[in-house]
Amino acid sequence: MRIFLDTANIDQIRQAAKLGVISGVTTNPSLVSKEGTTDYEATIKEICSITSGPISTEVLVEGVEPMIEQARQISTWAPNIVIKIPATTEGLEVTSALAKEGIKVNFTLCFSLNQAILGALAGATYVSPFVGRLDDAGHNGMELVRDIVDVFTHYQLSTQVIAASLRHPQHCVAAAKAGAHIATIPYSVLMQMLRHPLTDIGVARFLSDWQRKKE
Ligand code: E4P
Repeated sequence: MRIFLDTANIDQIRQAAKLGVISGVTTNPSLVSKEGTTDYEATIKEICSITSGPISTEVLVEGVEPMIEQARQISTWAPNIVIKIPATTEGLEVTSALAKEGIKVNFTLCFSLNQAILGALAGATYVSPFVGRLDDAGHNGMELVRDIVDVFTHYQLSTQVIAASLRHPQHCVAAAKAGAHIATIPYSVLMQMLRHPLTDIGVARFLSDWQRKKE
């Protein structure tokens, strides 16, 4: 399983890139606006310059033609751009048109196996089931990830599954076990994945034992 960072925060992306475990970034309009910027294009271009991995960027308009037009425009911003298109009827048509032009699509806001199958058949490079939001609504988000992975594997569909809307380290463990190709996570969850009190205690003890021996 690969890991993407789910943020538009430049400092966090730079910091995570240094750790060498991040293969890409996913953003959405809410995440970009949280950073207090009004320049969407400049923010996305800066993120694209930090890592060469795929950077998912959502369209900011509705309607088939406006979405296609904006997606074409955004796709010129950097070679590693992936366009996020919502899993709606219009989004499906847009996904199909963009895929034919060779523009990579992340079929996002995916909440059912049927949406994921249709996104894959339309040519999406990625589908993003939103695990946390499904859990919040009383469903089992990870079960959906497992179902999508199973069906894509069974029918040899090449679309990759991004387990999205992950909220804590147990989500990452479950996504890996479910066979997700990618887990996209906030920076805080990336840090939580690594942290273990026994590691900290072990490091401190090794150093103090060696220090005592020298005295
Ligand atoms: C994924 O591509 C989305 O940006 C993200 O995971 C949404 O997460 P949220 O439900 O925590 O907003």
